[in-house]
Amino acid sequence: MIGLQWGDEAKGKLVDLMTSQFDYVVRYQGGSNAGHTVVIGDQTYKLHHIPSGILNPGVMNIIAPGVVLNPATLLQEIEGLTARQIDVTENLRISDRAHVVFPWHLAEDRVTNAAAVAGESIGTTLRGIGPCYRDKYARSHAIRMGDLCRSGFRARIEEIVAAKQRALAGLGSTESLDVEAIYTEFSGYAERLQPLVTETTDLLLDALDAGKSLLFEGAQGALLDIDHGTFPFVTSSNSSGVGVCGGSGVPPCWIRRVLGVAKAYTTRVGGGPFPTELDDEVGQRIRDLGNEYGTTTGRARRCGWFDAVAVRYTTRLSGVSGLSIMMLDVLSQLPEVKICVAYQLDGKRIERFPSHVEDLRRVTPIYETLPGWETDVTQMRRMSELPSGARRYLDRVSELVRRPIDVVSVGPDRAQTIFADGAS
Ligand code: GDP
Ligand code: IMO
Ligand code: MG
Repeated sequence: MIGLQWGDEAKGKLVDLMTSQFDYVVRYQGGSNAGHTVVIGDQTYKLHHIPSGILNPGVMNIIAPGVVLNPATLLQEIEGLTARQIDVTENLRISDRAHVVFPWHLAEDRVTNAAAVAGESIGTTLRGIGPCYRDKYARSHAIRMGDLCRSGFRARIEEIVAAKQRALAGLGSTESLDVEAIYTEFSGYAERLQPLVTETTDLLLDALDAGKSLLFEGAQGALLDIDHGTFPFVTSSNSSGVGVCGGSGVPPCWIRRVLGVAKAYTTRVGGGPFPTELDDEVGQRIRDLGNEYGTTTGRARRCGWFDAVAVRYTTRLSGVSGLSIMMLDVLSQLPEVKICVAYQLDGKRIERFPSHVEDLRRVTPIYETLPGWETDVTQMRRMSELPSGARRYLDRVSELVRRPIDVVSVGPDRAQTIFADGAS
């Protein structure tokens, strides 16, 4: 399951809803920058590392090698679930290959994010994601979950802290790192997490050989993909469909179906171009109606119209077979709604998503305006119940993105979901 915009497409809701059809749910990239919300009745769960399958008993949840993991945040999540009678000891496993986020990564994120890139700050979640992935690819200063309990861990910390302290000072940071305190803190986390840490690649391949079914839960959205997104205003992993295999260790031959998730409009948190952004009272109305404030950082999300150019691009890039359109209820009070069907760039109409951020900054969206439906849809459970204006809007989205709509979400709760005939 892949987010097709800039994240927060309500992947958590949909993963939770579909989990009962699967044996395993796998998170395979990103880390605590993700914030996935699941609403069940009067209970709201916010998950950062733990797969959104965790609320379905009997399903195994895997944190695969491609995730970068902050043990303190993960333990808080586990404690939060345990306090609500959700025990993870039997159904959560963490790869010993997953890289660990350390205090120096958080410090580096703070310093580098303060500086502008291409004229603007990236506006990261400050969770140390970029610095941790950088160390993973550079290799010499990286530590994985499987290293935490091995002899030599203290010596590694000492070596890395010395280098990081110099690097941070060079960046103008006064942050001081205490070897002993970090060693003691992370050894404690390692001891507590040890029962859950294991080899997960063979575990997943064995499950597939035994006929089990796996659901892969993407974090972020495809427009934030490090290689194919709006670089440099992206995250540091492959958050489009192309990241599933690399992050999980499951080869492409096992991928049967890719579900794409998009909001009925668009949001973005942090910096970077956003052609359909509404910097006016309509944008504020969408923010208020959709409660568009970040699950992880609480930041106000930037809001705008649905961008069919962008979603057609990410749908193809991720190999999506069918769409789930979320938050349809949020548009229900607007007198008219717009869809961006193409861009204008240098006097020409273009239908492809530009690869360079400067071109994306210069495009002007070409809109089609449709009448609103101004009807409360939150209690509707069948496509045929939706007002004709809403159906026309969804049909146009489907036509422009060139994929069928399998699911429509009309509210945060599990029950507020409409499955197209034949889709489940
Ligand atoms: P994720 O990161 O993709 O899992 O999405 P987030 O959890 O960050 O943000 C989605 C927000 O929208 C959450 O607060 C959900 O509870 C909420 N939500 C999910 N589906 C719907 C919907 O159809 N309508 C409304 N109004 N809210 C929804
Ligand atoms: P979920 O999984 C929305 C954004 C940040 C910033 C950029 C880089 O909940 O959809 P990072 O901390 O990853 O280096 O930040 O990516 N970002 C997200 N935006 N939803 C997310 O996750 C995000 N994870 C990162 O706001 O613009
Ligand atoms: Mg989110």
